[in-house]
Amino acid sequence: MTDQLIIFDTTLRDGEQSPGASMTRDEKVRIAKALERMRVDVIEAGFAIASPGDFASVKAVAEAVDDSTVCSLARANLKDIDAAAQALEPARRRRIHTFIATSPIHMAKKLNMHPDQVVEAAVAAVKHARQYTDDVEFSPEDAGRSEPDFLCRILEAVIDAGAGTINIPDTVGYTMPHMFGQLIADLRNRVPNADKAVFSVHCHNDLGMAVANSLAAVLAGARQVECTINGLGERAGNAALEEVAMAVRTRRDVFACDHRLDTKHIMQASRLVSAVTGFPVQPNKAIVGANAFAHESGIHQDGVIKHRETYEIMHAADVGWSEQHIVLGKHSGRNAFRTRCEELGISFESPELLNDAFARFKVLADQKHEIFDEDLHALVSDVAQAHERINLHQLEVTAATGTRPVAHLSLQIDKELVSASAEGDGSVDACFKAIEQIIDSGAQLLLFSVNAITQGTDAQGETTVRLARDGKVANGQGADTDVVVAAAKAYVNALNRLDQMGVRLHPQVGETV
Ligand code: KIV
Ligand code: ZN
Repeated sequence: MTDQLIIFDTTLRDGEQSPGASMTRDEKVRIAKALERMRVDVIEAGFAIASPGDFASVKAVAEAVDDSTVCSLARANLKDIDAAAQALEPARRRRIHTFIATSPIHMAKKLNMHPDQVVEAAVAAVKHARQYTDDVEFSPEDAGRSEPDFLCRILEAVIDAGAGTINIPDTVGYTMPHMFGQLIADLRNRVPNADKAVFSVHCHNDLGMAVANSLAAVLAGARQVECTINGLGERAGNAALEEVAMAVRTRRDVFACDHRLDTKHIMQASRLVSAVTGFPVQPNKAIVGANAFAHESGIHQDGVIKHRETYEIMHAADVGWSEQHIVLGKHSGRNAFRTRCEELGISFESPELLNDAFARFKVLADQKHEIFDEDLHALVSDVAQAHERINLHQLEVTAATGTRPVAHLSLQIDKELVSASAEGDGSVDACFKAIEQIIDSGAQLLLFSVNAITQGTDAQGETTVRLARDGKVANGQGADTDVVVAAAKAYVNALNRLDQMGVRLHPQVGETV
């Protein structure tokens, strides 16, 4: 057994399956670049057949990434695999990940297939995928609730057909760590050709066990863990990459393996994913939460001052907590700006877009002097938003204690300016009401949140607005040194995203979302 633990990140695929977390192609490329910088081994870039937009995103990631293997998900059918292979064509290293459900309930109720047909489809899919690449992964979906004898049978068959990675998903987050570890050990012992494949795990967090189950599997010999930044993912999410990575690195005495991640990039990736998806990180979240390294209680502070290791088991710097470098300032020129953007995976499709972004950068640098990478990501999202169908043109809010605030705003819709004014219970409420007076979207507001992007009172406020309409959910983001302006931008962004949401296949339920 090797001592290398392969880190497979599925933020761009399973992470994106969280309601409202959908990402644009450019956002996916930026996240993929952050993952590559962190030295993630495999990046699952999406489900290529889901829609033309998903196909384009997988392709764009395949073009942008050199150091990590790029992977696309495909159901066990030839059309999905062909789409995955075409989208992955530009990749330096490509993997096709094909799957089919194997639990009695999924085979009978979802697939309506006999177990023999499931084995046949899985073998055919793996053989077909092998015509495109030597790197093929197979997952028996809902393995956590599948019959072990049937799992052994299908796994032996797909390994014979050429699958080099066998991924065991706990799709519904049902198993307990000791059981899941035992399942991995049993499969490795009982499948006759198990030594020809790397065993991988993919755990969901419905009972809060995703990381514990993944680590139990590593102890039982799994050598790939599938995970996401901040634990993003379907329902309660997937195993959090940062927790798995730091547990293995911190407790090398327990796990007889290590990964190749440069963990100093964890914080930056966490902030980027949270900013792009609008899913804030809870303060007490392990590793990346604001309190993860804050020793608040007096006793702890005293202990830490006397001797750091009394209460700290990891260095904050090792996961990038002190890495919030000032990267640019008001004297930085266009070249320095473009170079840093390129390093962050940000590219401008035309000289006009670069000019627009640089002009906004100068305005921001005048307002807040020190510009961090997080500010650049927010600024680029701002430029992209300015080219959407609806955008915020002007906003004025009058608010005083004891009076109801009033917002006067104008939106640019298809290049035409439309204005409205509205009163509200607060400044943000007044803005949202004024926007709705113009748009009358019929959408329901599910969430509004504000975070500071960087430190200091001149930090930009980053707001998220989640809207729902006709079963679709979209998150919008806005950033500005004025949080009310940021809120209005986020509302408009969520409206644009709702309008753009087209028909898209969901890999596991086979429905459009
Ligand atoms: O949770 C799951 O089973 C999946 C598979 C598609 C691997 O995401
Ligand atoms: Zn999953």
